[in-house]
Amino acid sequence: MAVGLCWRRLEPSPPAAQNGVVRTLDEAPFVDPFSEEFQADPVPIIDRVRARSWLARTPISALVLGREQVHKLLSDPRLRSALPHLMRLQGVNEGELYDLVASALLSLDGADHARIRSLVSRAFTPRAVEPYRPAMRALAEEIVERFVGAGECEFMADFADHYPIEVMCQLLGVPPEDHLRFARWGDALTHVLSLELSLHLDEVNEALAGLNDYLADLIAERQRRPRQDLVSQLIAAGDDGDRLSPLELGALLGGLLFAGYDTTRNQLALAMTLFCEHPEQWRLLAERPELVAPAVEEVMRVAGVIAVTARVAVEDVELDGWRIPAWSLVSLSLSAANHDPAAFDDPHGFDITAGREQQLTFGAGPHFCLGANLARAEMQEALPVLARRLGPIALAGEPQWRPTITTGIFGPTRLPLRF
Ligand code: HEM
Repeated sequence: MAVGLCWRRLEPSPPAAQNGVVRTLDEAPFVDPFSEEFQADPVPIIDRVRARSWLARTPISALVLGREQVHKLLSDPRLRSALPHLMRLQGVNEGELYDLVASALLSLDGADHARIRSLVSRAFTPRAVEPYRPAMRALAEEIVERFVGAGECEFMADFADHYPIEVMCQLLGVPPEDHLRFARWGDALTHVLSLELSLHLDEVNEALAGLNDYLADLIAERQRRPRQDLVSQLIAAGDDGDRLSPLELGALLGGLLFAGYDTTRNQLALAMTLFCEHPEQWRLLAERPELVAPAVEEVMRVAGVIAVTARVAVEDVELDGWRIPAWSLVSLSLSAANHDPAAFDDPHGFDITAGREQQLTFGAGPHFCLGANLARAEMQEALPVLARRLGPIALAGEPQWRPTITTGIFGPTRLPLRF
């Protein structure tokens, strides 16, 4: 059973600040995410702790659990990107991989971040993404067609491993014969966000070298002969003469593959698992495909693929009755926020018709997922096709899961379905 899918308990959060007293992190309740109890089922632990306090401490970080505080802190300039810091903690502090990650959007802060973001964000607005929808729908149909006759599938190998990477490759203008290579590089790069990077360094470095060479050629080719694809669009993107440098462009494109592939395939898999547990919601989606937009938001709220994101506090941060000391690692629990009873009625319920507060699995603030409109469109196009073509679904065996704590992006490695 996926740990992220079984949050059930409901307790109210009390106000944090008491009589204007500011408490320090060492007074916060302690949570050990590395403990067996937490690994087995974090849900009751998080619910219990959040009912006492929106802030907890772990062996390595301050842990933020309340929706309001997670939302505020994601926009707080006193907190900076933790990605280079997390890489250094795992022994990677120089070389191609470090340079690439350190120049990725998610690693940049302040004006450096805002400059690149403003150059590229136009390519990811809802309007920019809209024209890709028919191709997404056709692709989902085509992939389902390959296995629909069998009455069962292994959802990862049969659908999820293909759909988002092919969308991404089409978007970048990567020819079909290279999709598999891209998928392999994407698989390897996913370790960058995990706490197991040091175990996979050779694999990651090899993928990176292959990807960098490929992207350099692709960029050079599009500079010579621009097309109607994202690479050409990003080469041309500019404001007042400002342009992305070749290095920035390479880091951005690598970052898009890295940020956009593994997330979406696992989010789709989590959606299918959740719908297996709630067949009436699946039926509803098949009957009323117009519900797909709220359905995607509700899936991402209840079973978000990214449970936690991290920041470093560069000065003391005082907020709602607590002080987080400078240079703390701050873990912002998107999943605890998404189940906060202070923000969501029946927070562990799954109802695609419920009008809810915005879920936080795409983050918030300046680093709010650049690809959110694309990922939404991908899922909004795929799920109705799956609901219509597969009909009622059920697990056809026990899914196998990635480890929860060491993986930045959570999901199944095998998901056998019957339909
Ligand atoms: C279900 C799918 C996805 C989820 C759940 C997701 C989630 C997130 C989250 C939580 C962040 C912010 C992390 C933080 O603040 O620390 C983020 C950032 C980002 N995402 Fe996504 N993402 C998804 C799909 C995509 C796709 C399809 C793309 C690109 C095509 C993409 C590109 C990015 C980029 C470039 C950033 C960095 C933005 C910045 O730092 O300004 N993501 N994503």
